[in-house]
Amino acid sequence: MKLILKTPTAQYSDEIASFREEFLQDGSSMDGCYNLRGLKNPNDWIKYCDDCSKMETVPAHWVVSTQFIYVRECDDRIVGMIQIRHYFNEFLEKYGGHIGYCVRPSERKKGYAKQMLRDCLPYCRKIGLKKILVSCIDSNEASRKTIVSNGGTYESTVFYAKAGVNLERYWIDLI
Ligand SMILES: CC(C)(COP(=O)(O)OP(=O)(O)OC[C@H]1O[C@@H](n2cnc3c(N)ncnc32)[C@H](O)[C@@H]1OP(=O)(O)O)[C@@H](O)C(=O)NCCC(=O)NCCS
Repeated sequence: MKLILKTPTAQYSDEIASFREEFLQDGSSMDGCYNLRGLKNPNDWIKYCDDCSKMETVPAHWVVSTQFIYVRECDDRIVGMIQIRHYFNEFLEKYGGHIGYCVRPSERKKGYAKQMLRDCLPYCRKIGLKKILVSCIDSNEASRKTIVSNGGTYESTVFYAKAGVNLERYWIDLI
């Protein structure tokens, strides 16, 4: 099964809307796709992704970051989304890490998250990252396995008071 990381464009507007709707229906956590939950119009979200990709337009509270959609080639369906933050702010350094991702509920347990994280590592190298921090809530078995299967080494667990959760922090060495 061929899957490709792509930059979100208007060509995928309907797919982005359907991806979002599926998460809302399922009540599932949407990680690594900015505020897709709050942005009903896919074009607003696409513009937001573009703004975040450039130093001149990134919102003050965030960092330059690259958003990918993960597209299955055979049916052009978005199965997942992944976001790479190029550097840290205080929140990312302690809690959020370099990468966030999610796979749509109907496409889970097919190995897509593992593959998607693996596929974005060359891009992380390309933008100069030597190692990346990926964190997950301690009860998120699927995410932990995704990280560990991509070479993640456990460093520490921190309590994120705002959400009342323990976050496990893992480093993936890119050298
Ligand atoms: C976490 C998430 C991305 C996993 O996506 P996925 O495509 O189902 O994951 P994969 O199929 O690649 O599976 C990865 C591993 O987790 C295991 N796994 C998948 N779902 C699982 C579950 N519900 N419980 C326990 N293990 C699970 C798989 O068996 C696999 O393990 P393996 O390495 O032993 O083979 C997906 O559940 C999701 O989007 N969740 C909501 C958002 C989220 O939590 N994002 C991560 C934030 S850190």
